[in-house]
Amino acid sequence: MVAVSVRNLNKTFGANRALKDVSLELGRSEMVALIGASGSGKSTLIRHIAGLIVSDKGQGQIEVFGTSIQKNGALAKGVRGHRREIGVVFQQFNLVGRLSVLTNVLMGVLGQAPSWRTWFGIFTKSEKQRAMNALGRVGIASHAAQRSSNLSGGQQQRAAIARTIVQGAKLVLADEPIASLDPASSRKVMDNLAHVNREDGVTVLVSLHQVDYAIKYCPRTIAMREGEVVFDGPSKLLTPEFLQQIYGADSIELLSPEERRRKAEGKSAKPIPERDAEGDLVLAYAAR
Ligand SMILES: Nc1ncnc2c1ncn2[C@@H]1O[C@H](COP(=O)(O)OP(=O)(O)O)[C@@H](O)[C@H]1O
Ligand SMILES: [Mg+2]
Repeated sequence: MVAVSVRNLNKTFGANRALKDVSLELGRSEMVALIGASGSGKSTLIRHIAGLIVSDKGQGQIEVFGTSIQKNGALAKGVRGHRREIGVVFQQFNLVGRLSVLTNVLMGVLGQAPSWRTWFGIFTKSEKQRAMNALGRVGIASHAAQRSSNLSGGQQQRAAIARTIVQGAKLVLADEPIASLDPASSRKVMDNLAHVNREDGVTVLVSLHQVDYAIKYCPRTIAMREGEVVFDGPSKLLTPEFLQQIYGADSIELLSPEERRRKAEGKSAKPIPERDAEGDLVLAYAAR
């Protein structure tokens, strides 16, 4: 079963080709990492899948759970209703700071946008119960009544994940959700995403700057460089040596501080993946 299908997507900003003929498929209930140095097109791809921007005219189409999101540079009809199935977690500014954590999570009931029901706090008991349950699942129920702006960065990301649970999202797109967090908070956020993936069967696409989280949490990684998919396969193949082959000097940016140190000391002893018969660095992940 296909959760996300992206075919021949191109996006140009002025003279800058941010996405170059990107095609990929995510299966239902997969948890997939999207990696790449800054500017490689991760956010642009995620925003297309969420239906927040449209591709260049001509070719290019995106379907989520078999329903069209956009095609040939135009949003599909009825995409607003369909967006309910897609939860988005950004690197920052997911919450309305002056509203309580609970109210922010309750916004998931309404889809993503705040409305008069939010401002007046009009929610049913069962909606509030659902939101509390979701906050419990991400481990921050005790913060429900606090102003969102009082939460730490990691707690805010977890509240955003709770909102996707309340929303009933079947696909979660998380765009560098741990980019500005310390390692302990990063693990909690990634644990939350992994639980939602495993327990609810939610398909997760998470863009990450550091490859060690991809290896730890996501069986599969899609790697981008300058708007192109340059690798799509098992995350465990992403050794520092392999990253060096794909990214050259840019690979340093994708390593954790420990890996950088090990590499500098020449201690990394992991095997280098081999090329397949056609000279590709790895076997294709799935038939397309
Ligand atoms: N709204 C925009 N206007 C102009 N250029 C953009 C815009 N968004 C992204 N870009 C450009 O597209 C390329 C890909 O950016 P982005 O998708 O943000 O990369 P990443 O998320 O991997 O860091 C970059 O060169 C960036 O400058
Ligand atoms: Mg980005």
